[in-house]
This record gives sequence, structure tokens and C-alpha cells, in this order.
Amino acid sequence: MKATKLAIALLAATGISAIATPVMAYEAGDWLVRGRIVNVNPNDDSGLLSVGSPLAALPGSGVTVDDDTIPELDITYMITPNWGVELILGYSEHDVDASGTVKSLLGQVIEAKALPPTLTLQYHFSPNSNIRPYVGAGVNYTYFFDEEVTGILDIPGAKIKMDDSWGLAVQAGVDIALNDDWFVNLDVKYIDMDTTAKFKGTLVGRAEIDVDIDPVVWGIGIGRRF
Ligand code: NI
Repeated sequence: MKATKLAIALLAATGISAIATPVMAYEAGDWLVRGRIVNVNPNDDSGLLSVGSPLAALPGSGVTVDDDTIPELDITYMITPNWGVELILGYSEHDVDASGTVKSLLGQVIEAKALPPTLTLQYHFSPNSNIRPYVGAGVNYTYFFDEEVTGILDIPGAKIKMDDSWGLAVQAGVDIALNDDWFVNLDVKYIDMDTTAKFKGTLVGRAEIDVDIDPVVWGIGIGRRF
């Protein structure tokens, strides 16, 4: 919501000058560096929580993953005026809550950070216009770190590890020129991000759950061409 309001304000502030004065086109060899505020909003879905040795699935159980808003840096290299390669850098932090039949019993079960570098190949439709839309597709690698067991499951010695994720990422966005070098950027990505969370030494001993996080990542920011 905040990002939307900011977007409207920025568009209102920049729109008139952006449309009135033509600026320089993107050229092969340009570097575009953007700083964005992004919201990582999971479209999460999970398998059943399995507990014990051997693991037994708890009927109707699951987890949900909350969203996070973070600063993010991204760098794009323009191979040609139309084709660019983008890498995003940043990390987000998420709470994982029990859901379904174990929701009230377990409450929050995990707190974890995600480092999700994403590399996309982009096509810029009109690199010599003041409003420069693009689409992209590529690959995401997500490394989870600082994972902690929380809530009732957390007893001394309890541990949690979340598997790394490799998945496809798609994006759409637009750069809106402020002048020859600076621009405003709006960007949205969908990332296929899946993990398995493995608990050890908790109140219920071992536990495991497959989680599809699959976030939509909305961003707004400022960029500069070098
Ligand atoms: Ni998925």
C-alpha cells in the first residue's frame, strides 16, 4: 500500500517532465544501478507437518509464511539497447506460523532470513523512449540462514535447517526517465521458491515440512545509468 502511494507521488512529480523532454536511449554497454524498496509477499502453500521417528504426517497441518519489506540493490548490464541482464541483491526475514490443525497448538515455529539472488535476462521494448517497459525471465537461488526454532517447539538444543531453493523467476517493470541518467523504476517479480524445513531436537523431536514460498516481489525505486 505504501509502495503504491509512493509510486503515484513519484509518477505525478516526474510525469510531466518525463513526457515532455526526450532523453538519451539505453546503449550497449550501459550499466543500470537501481535502489528499490521491495515487498516480498509469499504465495505460500505447504505440505503436512511430519513429526517423530519415523516421521508421521499430522492430518490437516501446515504452515504459512509472512511477508517482508526490504531495501534491495540491483544491477543491470545492457548487452544491446534492447537486451539486458539483471542481478538483484538483498535479503528478507520471515516468520513461519503453524496453520490448520496445529495453528493454535504451535503458533510461530520458525524465524529465518532468505538471501535470494536472482539473475534475469530482460527485453526492453523501447530503450530510446522516456518510459521504458521491460519483461524478463531467469533463475533464482535462495539461501536460508539464521534459521531459528520459535514458540513451543523451541527447547534447549532445538535446531532447524531449511534447504536451499533453485527456481525460475519472471519479471515485468518500467523505467521512467527523470533526465539523461536518472530514472524511477517500478518492478514486479514472481519467484518459484520451495524448501524443506527440517527440525531436530524440538519438543516433539524430529519434524519436517515442505514449503512452497513462491513470492511475488513488488518494488519501487530510483535508478541511474552509468
Ligand atoms: Ni513453487
